[in-house]
Order: sequence, then structure tokens, then C-alpha cells
Amino acid sequence: MSRTSPPLEPGPDQLEAHTRAVVELALEELRTLDRQPSFDLEGVEELRASFREPVPEEGHPIEALLARLRPAIAKSYNTAGPGYLAYIPGGGVYAAALADFLAATTNRYVGVTGAAPVLAQIEQTAVSWLCKLMGLPAGSRGILTSGGSLSSFSAIVTARHECLGEEFAAGSIYFSDQTHYCVTKSARLAGFPRASLRQLPTDARFRLDTRALDAAAREDRARGRRPFLVVANVGTTNTGAIDPLPEVLEIAREHGLWVHADAAYGGFFRLAPGGEALLRGVEECDSITLDPHKGLFLPYGLGALLVRDGAALVRAHSESASYVQDVAAEEGSLGFADLSPELSRDFRGLRVWLPLMLHGLGAFREQLAEKLALARWFHEELRKDPSFEVLDEPQLSIVAFRLRAPEADAERLGPELQRRVNARRRVFLSSTRIRGRYALRVCVLSFRTHEDRVRDAAQALKEEARALLA
Ligand SMILES: Cc1ncc(COP(=O)(O)O)c(C=O)c1O
Repeated sequence: MSRTSPPLEPGPDQLEAHTRAVVELALEELRTLDRQPSFDLEGVEELRASFREPVPEEGHPIEALLARLRPAIAKSYNTAGPGYLAYIPGGGVYAAALADFLAATTNRYVGVTGAAPVLAQIEQTAVSWLCKLMGLPAGSRGILTSGGSLSSFSAIVTARHECLGEEFAAGSIYFSDQTHYCVTKSARLAGFPRASLRQLPTDARFRLDTRALDAAAREDRARGRRPFLVVANVGTTNTGAIDPLPEVLEIAREHGLWVHADAAYGGFFRLAPGGEALLRGVEECDSITLDPHKGLFLPYGLGALLVRDGAALVRAHSESASYVQDVAAEEGSLGFADLSPELSRDFRGLRVWLPLMLHGLGAFREQLAEKLALARWFHEELRKDPSFEVLDEPQLSIVAFRLRAPEADAERLGPELQRRVNARRRVFLSSTRIRGRYALRVCVLSFRTHEDRVRDAAQALKEEARALLA
């Protein structure tokens, strides 16, 4: 049978042509990033429909496929661009893409240490760097996950295993009304009934009310429940609030609670000047969720869970079987399959190792310091403007605010302000509800976001707010 499709193992010329074509598209994306709109969804449904297609029996030339992908990439929120100030931006440090390319091309197996001992070591080293950066002691261990949600899941499973054993339905988990929903989702996936979930109030700056934590744990124990876990926020998604970790730790010790820090967004700010004081207590926590695809600016798909007593992670996750006897782990050569829910997976360690080795930690520290400064500058701009009510001083790099208008008007005008500012296509902002009321927010986190974009955001907001309130 004659076939025109490229074989699964293309010849050297074709291989090179494919690679060049893909790299050209990637580099063109990067070259034009600064000029691209902050989002573009015009005509997206039509384009989307064109991708509802049957699997082809014969292949297509790579050029034709890339020509289809180019507009598909463009029809989106531009999450790689400098104007992305919505949700929690990531970024996409290019060295991580190169690491992924190399990892997928060489396709070595890092789930068990014996199959690629040096590469597994690279991943272990990368994780040990993260532990060190968070101030965790020797004996801590961690895993690289697909993101903060999966890290939270493994954290809750580990705490459950250590504190409650197999009968855990009476366990109680404490967290604030600002905690990311991945925590309750993870708790449910870990088998906890709704009755185990104790949401607690926050103070004027959206930080966990520690008196409420103490009272809830006492009350639960008196009712025969088993308090075992408190999740403390190190940077909430709404406003970047940091729970009072030293107080949380003290109360937790009194009640024998495992303290898990959700530092998915905020954790890497520990690298900025003053960061250790700002995040004081994180180094004392039992486990930490940290998202390199947020504060380390890596592409989406990289979270981490760090556990103070690394053996606890192993106890909660390890299994064995005869068909892996050749690569069975001994203490000292435990692989990530022994510490995590996964077995076969991508070589994530290289995604952390290559950017840090290539750029050095200093480059990341500078970026993080800049993001904190930009958020402070933006906050000051809006605070001085009578059109805005700013909800809190930035504790990290998020500023949440609303129009200063009677409540009914603010609910109507807020989304209109967001629509108008985003329609300028220079920045992209997302909204939320805080204590039941509509709020806009700016999160400065991309390594590509600098002063010019944050100025654009402030200016657009001021101009559109003035027009709306006139
Ligand atoms: C504070 C916080 N925790 C957890 C998560 C969940 O992380 P992921 O989206 O990587 O699963 C997020 C996501 O934005 C977050 O902001």
C-alpha cells in the first residue's frame, strides 16, 4: 500500500524539517508576544467547530497542521503575555519548554530511580531545592505534581494517613472562607464527608480568624469528632492574604493538628527581599503546596508538594508488586512512584532544574521583588483615586478593588468596567466576589509583566471608571 503520511520514525531530513517548523512557530509567538492582544475570542466558536473532526486515516503535512494551530493559539486569553493580570498568572519561562522537549524526546523513565538513576537524582535535587527554599529541614521530601490541586490532594491523604489511620470519617479539616476550592475538592476526593469540612471566618484583611480555629477544634472534640488538619493560606487567590502562620501553628500544636500551607501562589515570594519575614512560619508547617507554574513562572502543569517528615509521604503512598521487583526501591533510592499517586509520567524535574541552572535563582528573586513593587504601586494609584474602593493593601502581588458607588450601581457597573478595560486588549483582568460583593482584581505575577503594563491597567481603569461614574 502506498502511503504519503510521514512514517512514525521520520528520516533525518524530515525530522529536522518538522522540528524547524515547530520551533519557528514557537519563536514567532515569543517575538510577537508584546504586540499581541491580551485576549481574543472573536469568531472562536467557528474555529472551534472546525476542530471537531474524525481521526484521519492518512496524515497531513506539518506545515498544514501548524497553519491550523497558529490561529487556534491566538483565540484565547493570552496567558503567556505581559498583559495577563487575571486569576493567578503563570508565564512560561522558555527554558522549561526546552526541558520538556528534551525530556519527551529522550523519553527516559523517572518513575522509579533504578531506570534512570541520574535523571531521578536531578528531580530529587530540584525538589530538595524547593524544600530548602521554603526553609524545611533535612528529612523533608516532596513530589512534583501537575499543579496545586493534586498537591493538595496528596497533602490531605498524607495528613489523613498519619493522623487518622483507616477510620477517618470523624476527622475535621479547618480552613478559611478564602481558601481555594481545590482544598474542599481534594478532601472530598480523599473520602471525607461534607461534615468533615469546617470553613472558618476571616478578619478584616481576609486572614484566618485563629480564635475561631481554636473554638471550632474544641467544639469538635467535645462532640466526639477528630480534629486533625488545618490548611493555612500563604497567599489567597482573591486578595493574596497570608494567614497568621505563627498563631495557627501554636493552636495546631495544642490540638495536635497537621498544618498544611497552601502556598501555591504565595510560596515563592519567600525568595524576594523580606520574603522570609513576610511568610514567617511556613518553614514550620507539616506540608506545603507550592506551584512552580505560578511563582516560578514555569508553563502550566507543574506543582509541588513538600512534606516536612518525608517518611510520612512514603507511608501514605508506597505500594509494591512483583513485576517491579527489578527496580524495587530501597531506602535511599526511593523513586517518585513511592511518594506520589503516579507511576509513569513525564520527567518534570528537568522543567525545574534547567531554568534554575540556566538563569540562576537571582533572576527569579529579582522578578518576584518587581512583582511585589508593581502591586504596591498599583494599589497606591487606585487608593488615591476617588472612583475606587481598594479592599486591602497588597500582602503579596494582588490588589482587589471595586468602584466606589452605591451597592446596586457597583454590581451593575463593575462588570461593565471590567468589560471596557479588557476590550482595550492591553491587559486582561478577572473578577470575583468577596464577602458577597463583586470585586475586580489585578494579580501581577508574570515574568513578562513590567511597569508599562501595570501603568496601562491603572490608566485604563481610571479613565473607564470616570466615564462610568460621570
Ligand atoms: C491559592 C491557590 N491554591 C491552589 C490553587 C490550585 O492550583 P492549580 O490550579 O495548580 O491546581 C490555586 C490556583 O490558582 C491557588 O490560587
